[in-house]
Amino acid sequence: MKQAFVTGAVAVTLVAASFAVQAGPAEDLAAFQAHYKKQFPDINQADFKDGAYALDPTLKAQWEEMESSFPPYEPDIDAGKKIWETPFKNGKTYADCMGDVKSVRGKYPYYDAEKNTVVTMVGALDACKKTNDGEGFVNKEGKPFLNKGAVAQLSAYVAMEGRGGKINLATPEGKGLEWYEKGKNFFYAKRGQLNMSCADCHVYNAGKMIRADLLSPAMGHVTHWPTYRSADGEITTLHNRFMGCNTMVRANNFKAEGDEYKALEYFMTYMSNGQEWNGPGSRK
Ligand code: HEC
Repeated sequence: MKQAFVTGAVAVTLVAASFAVQAGPAEDLAAFQAHYKKQFPDINQADFKDGAYALDPTLKAQWEEMESSFPPYEPDIDAGKKIWETPFKNGKTYADCMGDVKSVRGKYPYYDAEKNTVVTMVGALDACKKTNDGEGFVNKEGKPFLNKGAVAQLSAYVAMEGRGGKINLATPEGKGLEWYEKGKNFFYAKRGQLNMSCADCHVYNAGKMIRADLLSPAMGHVTHWPTYRSADGEITTLHNRFMGCNTMVRANNFKAEGDEYKALEYFMTYMSNGQEWNGPGSRK
């Protein structure tokens, strides 16, 4: 195990350096995707949406069996549909802000130049609720609650209705480039007591084991959210996973839908351009 990471750390310096000299997002994207093609020549590019399961036929067969016989996120989709259809206090519904439910998943995230911010799907659902209900998604103490619970259920319904679309995020430009760079830096920066970056695990060591887990490639990381994790016994958002991985290396967490994770989602979504939206997901 230690051996694997020493090798990985050497690769980090080399590959990170070659990313750094690239000119911009389009070149980053080509290099990022080429890396996985080279590392996993036998895996169909379209299968990266299935995370670690794409890399292991036995795990994939078990997972597909569960997905087809008892998808664990089904009750969440039902709950989310109810939320989507229930009118706000003012009589409006989510469709009034977000448009046809089938069109929603593929629109996010995007860079909003007017507000100079990245708008995520969860953020947009929360903003819609705020506008029409006077309050966004909050917990019992009235604090923003954006990494699980009702907003994750609502996202499960929206993701289900948007299944099959392809990620097609516009190449960042103008001030959007600053958000892209912020997300990219977050992804490659070493952090926490273990001093590891996202890339250390999900680029340079993807396909290797860490304890009982097979490390998934970062390409395809954003496709299937929200995700029901058997380990958690509930449905959670992409930003919840970011929080989990930050905790794993004993680094500081950032808040769900804060600028750090929005920028990270923006960068990672661009790196997954061409992959299929296949949420909601299930993972062990
Ligand atoms: C110490 C290694 C490690 C680091 C560093 C790490 N992760 Fe993870 N991550 C894991 C493990 C283990 C899993 C669960 C198995 C898997 O899917 O890779 C995981 C899962 C994920 C998943 C879910 C994959 C799926 O298919 O559902 C995402 C997304 C993710 N990580 C993103 C990140 C991001 C972003 C960072 C940097 C902030 C990061 N990780 C840093 C180990 C790591």
